[in-house]
Amino acid sequence: MSDSNLIEAARAARRHAHAAYSNFMVGAALETADGTVVTGCNVENATYGLTICAERVAMFKAISEGHRTFRRIAVVADTQAPTPPCGACRQILWEFGGDLEVILANLERETGRHQLSTLLPLPFDARLLE
Ligand code: THU
Repeated sequence: MSDSNLIEAARAARRHAHAAYSNFMVGAALETADGTVVTGCNVENATYGLTICAERVAMFKAISEGHRTFRRIAVVADTQAPTPPCGACRQILWEFGGDLEVILANLERETGRHQLSTLLPLPFDARLLE
């Protein structure tokens, strides 16, 4: 899938966000190794701490559907500055996706592109538990 199609998938997923408390809607589109695209949006809760970000929804959906290897993820929010994954999402993306390419975009344009290893330079992961 082209970069712009992956970003479009994240924009479409964002429209399903349940962001009743922050009004900050986010969409994510995760590309698996076989080219499947799994999307997610943020889902908030009246107990604010139960909120889950778009990136984790996409990754947990993908894992629950049997996917185990991933190429990249596009994240879309309606901000001029890039909206990068939060710390918790970086950790979850690293756990399952390793050094993913992270493409950031808003409703009009791409706003940034990073390797996850740059966003999470000293990760805690399974290698430390061996
Ligand atoms: N959020 C995401 O879904 N992904 C991000 O990368 C940043 C933050 C959500 C969580 C919450 O629902 C809202 O945006 C405001 O923090």
